[in-house]
This record gives sequence, C-alpha cells and structure tokens, in this order.
Amino acid sequence: MLTDNLTINENGHLLIGGVDTITLAKECGTPAYVMDEGVIRENCRRFKKSIDEYYDGKGLVCYANKVFCCKAMCNIMREEGMGLDVVSSGELYTAISTGFPTDKICFHGNNKTKDEITFALSHGVGRIIVDNFEELERLDKIAGKLHKKANIMFRVKPGIDAHTHSFVQTGQIDSKFGVALETGEAFEIIKKAITMENVVLKGVHCHIGSQIFDISPFELAAKVMLGLIAKVRDELGYTIEELNLGGGFGIKYLEEDNPPEYDEYMKRVAATVNKTCEEYSLDRPFIYIEPGRSIAGPAGITLYTVGSVKEIPNVRTYVAVDGGMADNPRYALYQSEYTAVVANKADKPKDAVVTLAGRCCESGDLVGENMPLQTPEEGDVIAVLATGAYNYSMSSNYNRLPKPPVIMVNNGNAKIVVKRETLDDVIRNDL
Ligand code: LLP
Repeated sequence: MLTDNLTINENGHLLIGGVDTITLAKECGTPAYVMDEGVIRENCRRFKKSIDEYYDGKGLVCYANKVFCCKAMCNIMREEGMGLDVVSSGELYTAISTGFPTDKICFHGNNKTKDEITFALSHGVGRIIVDNFEELERLDKIAGKLHKKANIMFRVKPGIDAHTHSFVQTGQIDSKFGVALETGEAFEIIKKAITMENVVLKGVHCHIGSQIFDISPFELAAKVMLGLIAKVRDELGYTIEELNLGGGFGIKYLEEDNPPEYDEYMKRVAATVNKTCEEYSLDRPFIYIEPGRSIAGPAGITLYTVGSVKEIPNVRTYVAVDGGMADNPRYALYQSEYTAVVANKADKPKDAVVTLAGRCCESGDLVGENMPLQTPEEGDVIAVLATGAYNYSMSSNYNRLPKPPVIMVNNGNAKIVVKRETLDDVIRNDL
C-alpha cells in the first residue's frame, strides 16, 4: 500500500491507523476525510529531529497551516512543539482559538489587509513575513499606532525555478510573491526597513515551490539567500540572524513516486548552510522550515461511495462517486494524480482502469483519469489515498454541497474532529 499505516484486514477491508474504513463509511457516511494522527505526529518528529541532528537544534519547524487547518490540527502542532505558518486571519484565528503560542507563528501573505496586520500584531505573532514596500509602510504605521515593534522577515524571490526538469537559477522574478533578488529590490527593501522605527528586521524568507523531489534547488536557495545576508552585513553593517527556507518537500501520490527521506533534506541543506557560512565568515543563522504537504498529505485519505459505473465502449469507464472537485479540486486545477482503492475489495487485484467522476455539474469534475482500480460496483467504498494536503483546505460548497467531515484516527480509535456540514450550514449566511 502507498503508506505503511494503510493495511488490509481478513475481510479485505482497507484499514487506516488500524481503523476499518468500511465501518467509518457506515457510521459517518461518505464522502469523508480520514486523517491518521499517528502519521501526522511522526512526520512532525522527523522534521524536528533532523534539525536537532544536523543543525544542532538551531531552528524551528513551522507547519504550513494552509495545507490542512482545523482546531484539532493546531492542537496536535502545539503538542508537538511545532511553529505555524499562517496566511490569513482565518488560519490565525483557528490557531489562536486553540491557545497556540503566537510567538511561534509566522504570518505570510502577499496582500495582508490593515485589519489582518492589526490582528496579528495585537496577538503578538512571532514573525510577519513582509511581501512588498507598501506592506512595509503599512506595517510600520500600524505598529507605531499600537506601540509595538513588529518582528519581520522579507519574502525574497531568490530566482530559482524548482519546477523545471532540471531546475534553473534565473527567470523566476515573474511571481506575485515577494521582492526579487536579482533586480536589487530585496536589498532596497532591507535598506529601508533597517531605518524604520517600528519594525525589527529579523530574517529573510524564500519558498521555491511545492511537491519538489530534488534537494539541489533547496541547497542552491540556501546559498543564494546567505549571499544576500552577507551582502547586507558587508554593505549595510546589519546582521540578519534568521533564514526561513519555506516548504515544498514532495510526497508519494503514486506507487512509482520516490521522494527523498525527510531527514535527507536537512542533512544536505544544513551542510550547505554550514559551508556557505564559513565561506562568508557568517554566524550560522537560526533556520525556519515550513513543511506542509509532507506533514499532512500522507496522513489522509478520502472515502467515497460509488453511485454508478458507466462503461462507454472503446472510450472509458466513468465511476461516479458522491464527492469530487468540491472536496478535492486538485485534479481539476492541476491534473494532480492520485492512487485509489476499492476499500471493501482492497485484497483484490486492480483489474480495471477507470475515470473517477465527481457529482458536480461540470465535465471537468474528475478525481482522476486512467486510474487502476479493483472492479467497482454501485455501493462500493472508494478510498483515494494521500489526500491529507490541500483537499479539505481547498474544498468548496460548489453546487451547494455540504462539506464532508474530518475523522481523525489513531491506533485503532476514531473521532470526528470536523463535523459534516448540514443543509442548514449551507444557507447559514443567507439573509
Ligand atoms: N511556505 C510558504 C510560504 C508557502 O507558500 C507554502 C505553500 C508552504 C510553506 C508549504 O508548502 P508545502 O510544503 O506544502 O509544499 N495548492 C497547491 C500547493 C500550493 C502551495 C502554496 N504554498 C497544491 O495543492 O498542490
């Protein structure tokens, strides 16, 4: 099976975290997201351990909350001693509502509103990752009014494109996020910030992409960012103490995917940081990393029930499920591929190739195409695997579909951590 926490019992049922998915489907209905708490915790610990082991613990792992955000997840992150990356007042509010220590929160976003900045500063958010000149001015003013000092980092575009087959180091200035290194914009904004009264420049940040398997672009990003830190020291006499290297570590969606082990990332990046710091005679910065997908993605599956199987001779077989793009828009948006299993026939061979179709009024509402699957029939439960990242968080009420619940399993136990929306929830804001 794709991940070790998925097993098959004597009835041929798929189990996640020791819990029978067919029992869950019966008791909680479908569609339903199921997350394995054990896997989430294990992934947090792996990243934390890698910083301890390879970088003397001089860093903080901030889980990217956009990936899968709810109160239960924030509680787990707090218990695991993680930091958080949040990107809106909604994500921040969720964290605060669970008593999450706000000094371990990094607040991101390329267009934070005045209200959001005020909210973040009043709650003592640890770092604000400033995106642009206007935001810097805005932040300085608001901080002044609130008699606070804002601890900031800058979102820098280091000019690395990790999404080409062989990644390249130029031409990535065309992004809505952050200030560019190669145009001198990053240096200028730093120069400005260090003269400002109400902001304290702590660090620089970069995030080079998502679902990346190759570690070399991360190494290069660290090198390039340390070059900027050295330049600021040499030309402005200012010491930037922190380096935030973002997230982006790839996970296994298909059997043939082969992402590197999580600790391999820190092993190589820490070595690069150490070496580059020596070359520039820099003190080693405090490092932040922001894994998201790699923490929550492999922990989750989605359960659906098959409503019909429509075989179109010489064309394809559509298997209609009771969810789709409203709970998982990733195929519609990015043609992202997934692995699926008929959860009540998990011990049978995958002898069919199907298109999993959702239930929205939209031809593009597919969960996937050309998916190998055990021959499906009406009433079967289908599990789509590795849906823990960017599924629940990107879900919508399109066609006024109520959102599915989130069930958290752990070592044979299950509890609902987000209720299924009701039809009344769907109209709750209508006047
Ligand atoms: N830090 C920053 C500043 C980010 O923008 C992101 C993701 C992360 C960390 C976490 O990256 P991860 O470790 O999850 O790759 N919706 C898309 C992915 C968008 C990524 C947005 N930024 C998807 O479903 O593939």
